[in-house]
Amino acid sequence: MVLFNVSRVETTPFGDQKPGTSGLRKKVKVFKQPNYLQNFVQSTFNALTPQNVRGATLVVSGDGRYFSKDAIQIITKMAAGNGLRRVWVGQNGLLSTPAVSAVIRERVGVDGSKATGAFILTASHNPGGPNEDFGIKYNMENGGPAPEGITDKIYENTKTIKEYLTADLPDVDITTIGVTSFSWSEGQFDVEVFDSASDYIKLMKSIFDFESIRKLLSSPKFTFCYDALHGVAGAYAKRIFVEELGAQESSLLNCVPKEDFGGGHPDPNLTYAKELVARMGLGKSNSEVEPPEFGAAADGDADRNMVLGKRFFVTPSDSVAIIAANAVEAIPYFSAGLKGVARSMPTSAALDVVAKSLNLKFFEVPTGWKFFGNLMDAGLCSVCGEESFGTGSDHIREKDGIWAVLAWLSILAYKNRENLGGGKLVTVEDIVHNHWATYGRHYYTRYDYENVDAGAAKELMACLVKLQSSLTEVNEIVSGIQSDVSKVVHADEFEYKDPVDSSISKHQGIRYLFEDGSRLVFRLSGTGSEGATIRLYIEQYEKDPSKTGRDSQDALAPLVAVALGLSKMQEFTGRSAPTVIT
Ligand code: G6P
Ligand code: ZN
Repeated sequence: MVLFNVSRVETTPFGDQKPGTSGLRKKVKVFKQPNYLQNFVQSTFNALTPQNVRGATLVVSGDGRYFSKDAIQIITKMAAGNGLRRVWVGQNGLLSTPAVSAVIRERVGVDGSKATGAFILTASHNPGGPNEDFGIKYNMENGGPAPEGITDKIYENTKTIKEYLTADLPDVDITTIGVTSFSWSEGQFDVEVFDSASDYIKLMKSIFDFESIRKLLSSPKFTFCYDALHGVAGAYAKRIFVEELGAQESSLLNCVPKEDFGGGHPDPNLTYAKELVARMGLGKSNSEVEPPEFGAAADGDADRNMVLGKRFFVTPSDSVAIIAANAVEAIPYFSAGLKGVARSMPTSAALDVVAKSLNLKFFEVPTGWKFFGNLMDAGLCSVCGEESFGTGSDHIREKDGIWAVLAWLSILAYKNRENLGGGKLVTVEDIVHNHWATYGRHYYTRYDYENVDAGAAKELMACLVKLQSSLTEVNEIVSGIQSDVSKVVHADEFEYKDPVDSSISKHQGIRYLFEDGSRLVFRLSGTGSEGATIRLYIEQYEKDPSKTGRDSQDALAPLVAVALGLSKMQEFTGRSAPTVIT
């Protein structure tokens, strides 16, 4: 057994280590500055209780983006230096964010050990590579992201840090499964490299009826396509969809994880998942090949999902509502009923209508998955989702891209349980249309203005808040822009009181609520790494079944005009069009 020594290394603070919505995200060159990563990691260890550090088991892995391998070695040495007992690493440093959550909650090590936390190395849907983004976040014992109390403490520590602890270990081979043991004056330190997928697959099998999904996927009537955008979902897709569920290998697109995501932007939306969008017959493709019945994509760390039908896009807001409406029948894990459902504030109210009709507890929380985690820990929420392509359940404490796909496949398998032999296939589009016929449709779109000047973005938001003091003035502006939209009856900045711990989160987005249920929401993104991103969310409810089949951009055009006029978007940002529309 290799013996190691621990040393204290002097360091000085960096001023920019405040964790955002999902940890610290910066350009790789920022992370590569001497001591930058070390300062953040030590500040995190210092923010935890001693029993979650000394003698503890820590998971360290991520989406495999550029700089991850170096980061794993650095963190492993610091874990040894800080007296942890062992580090668990997914093979090749790969673990999806949902898999990390599952590993913390479920995995038992060879010697019966359990993890108390994880460093997840990802910048999620942001591009990767030497000139792109890296990220790190800490997840707690419940498998969810550290709450604000901890991230604030981490940030405070980064401002005063003077030294960090590290061990003179050799680099550990993370490509081969197995345990490497080291010893030091206080005992033993192990690095256990394990299969990235098996714990997660075991969990999925305990939730879904794999046999019924297998019947669907192996039916010649049903065609399928999955795009991992070269993110970590690729490490799961082949094992789950092909080996476990019998899909054709040719149905996997971009499923080899790459450090730079093949040069792409690993965000599963209609703009960035270009290949999938074309294959599904959406956009301007005029291919003669018949598109598959079902398509889905994941982001870099595989917690986000996009679900598509043949020539059909399912909005994430509809997706969570449809999963909630069908969960009890189609997914064994939920057969005893749902404890409650929740959505983030900017997500459309499609889920609200389902919750009301099924008499379910319902929560509207600020953007950020951690708010759902609190509800789930208290047994108040089973299914939740966000407009930002996140959907999930209380099986873990992160959103889960592959879970969402399996949920949709379960619903399709259930609806087609008698059709696979003969009869017409119930498609994704049929399911969505039937849902609208029952519950009404929430037309929905999001406009993103990425990387705008941070000062200009702040000013735009400040003006919108100021405007809220006079609804009369607001309505004058609105009717001046578009005479046929309904009236603004309420405007505020969203504020949330957590029903579990009573904590209050303020300034969570600016809302303009209209008499007919339409909404305009303005928010600044909390996940960017440069400049500011303004998000504009536009929604309109239509109950009349004869009017639910319109093109959503057409249906929403009047409200879009109002939103752009009210916010003076072009004046403040200089942009005549958004960078991304979803
Ligand atoms: C991450 C979080 C989500 C959140 C999203 C918002 O993905 O995990 O919970 O919805 O960021 O991102 P934004 O860029 O809008 O702050
Ligand atoms: Zn992600």
